[in-house]
Amino acid sequence: MNNNGRAQFSSKFAVVVAAAGSAVGLGNIWRFPYELGSNGGFAFLLVYLLFVFLLGMPVMLSELVIGRRSQTNASGAFRVLKPGSHWSLVGLLGVITAFVILSFYFVVAGWSLEYVFQALVNRFEGQTPNDLSQAFTDFSTDAFRPLLWTVVFVFLTSAVVLAGVQKGIENISKILMPVLFLIILILCVRSLTLPNANEGLKFLFKPDFTKINSSVVLSALGQAFFSLSVGMSCLITYGSYVSKKNNLVHTAFEVTALDTLVSVLAAVAIFPAVFSLEINPAQGPELVFITLPNVFTQIPGGYVWAVLFFLLLAVAALTSTISLLEVITAYVTEEFKLKRRTVVLSSIVILVFCATLSSLSLGVWSDLQLFGMSLFDFFDYLSSKILLPVGGLFISVFLGWFYPRKETLDELSNGGKLSVPLFNIYFFLLRYIVPVAIALIFINELGLTK
Ligand code: PHE
Repeated sequence: MNNNGRAQFSSKFAVVVAAAGSAVGLGNIWRFPYELGSNGGFAFLLVYLLFVFLLGMPVMLSELVIGRRSQTNASGAFRVLKPGSHWSLVGLLGVITAFVILSFYFVVAGWSLEYVFQALVNRFEGQTPNDLSQAFTDFSTDAFRPLLWTVVFVFLTSAVVLAGVQKGIENISKILMPVLFLIILILCVRSLTLPNANEGLKFLFKPDFTKINSSVVLSALGQAFFSLSVGMSCLITYGSYVSKKNNLVHTAFEVTALDTLVSVLAAVAIFPAVFSLEINPAQGPELVFITLPNVFTQIPGGYVWAVLFFLLLAVAALTSTISLLEVITAYVTEEFKLKRRTVVLSSIVILVFCATLSSLSLGVWSDLQLFGMSLFDFFDYLSSKILLPVGGLFISVFLGWFYPRKETLDELSNGGKLSVPLFNIYFFLLRYIVPVAIALIFINELGLTK
């Protein structure tokens, strides 16, 4: 606890691990590869990397500044920094975004538990790529089974969030993130040594600029924000638990670099195998769930690796769902003076309801559509392609234009104790590049320029 009586992460390492725990998740291992596959490979990767460092990282740093400066939840933070304004609505938008993301994220997290189970009972052995693909379709369109796992996942998340910031969130992330990393490396080696692996590498790294279009650009923007957990005040909330001694610039850089590394490695583990096994790279959300089981059947000791991999995928998802639920919990407990327990338990009810809708929308309720998308796809689209970029836009405008520059510098330099050599570049990006880029991408995608 710090002197305001608020919980705090215990060390510098703990901060990076918790923030990286939030960032690294299904976004890297499930969503990144399939977005990359459906958006032409290299073109997407290039734009994505550009956005991560030019737009995502500055917003991440800004969220950490806002959170640590204000020492309070997503919405309260803006009120503390700019009393009497409407900026706290940006925090509220973040809380709503957390609900929208969790509505589909819990479903996919549930899938990862089912795959732990399938790996445990050795279901992948002797299966052809077609069998594995059919098995995934049968499972994900089933009415009951995915729901069961989703509910299990909601309860796991709630249990950790109930245990509180330090004990729950920190301890889990600290041990398991490094192991996940190791397994992805092993998968890369196997995937790269499969016949025809070269094709996958070409898809990823061979320059081809003809495939860049407005939809690829918006997808890359959405993926960058989603993967870094920025644009919805998640890192404002975590930032409020960061000690005043921590170097925020280092934290933001380390988390961004780690998150990006995991995504790129996941792609290297997946695409050579996709081409080797002649799976369609533009498959969509099932890509990882049908590609990797195929790879496991071809690795010595594949059984063990498969179990471990899906277990760790579930854990990576868990450290992300925790951070999302923590945004909601911190907001409601602090703004409405309610007990943590009451808040978590009532959120569960809403979340199970929404996750049920999106899970069923892939199968028995596939007729239920919004804007031509299943509810599952709609929640995904709304959060990553609209809400997160809009949130990021507001956060950058707030810090760039409506909050004194010297206060931001003061927070980043820990009251003048640290030097912040790149401050001018950061501030320039925040003030001009981030908001203008996001606005232009929207205008372009909406077709207003035509
Ligand atoms: N970044 C997480 C992932 O990649 C998802 C997430 C988004 C978590 C926004 C928190 C906030 O899986």
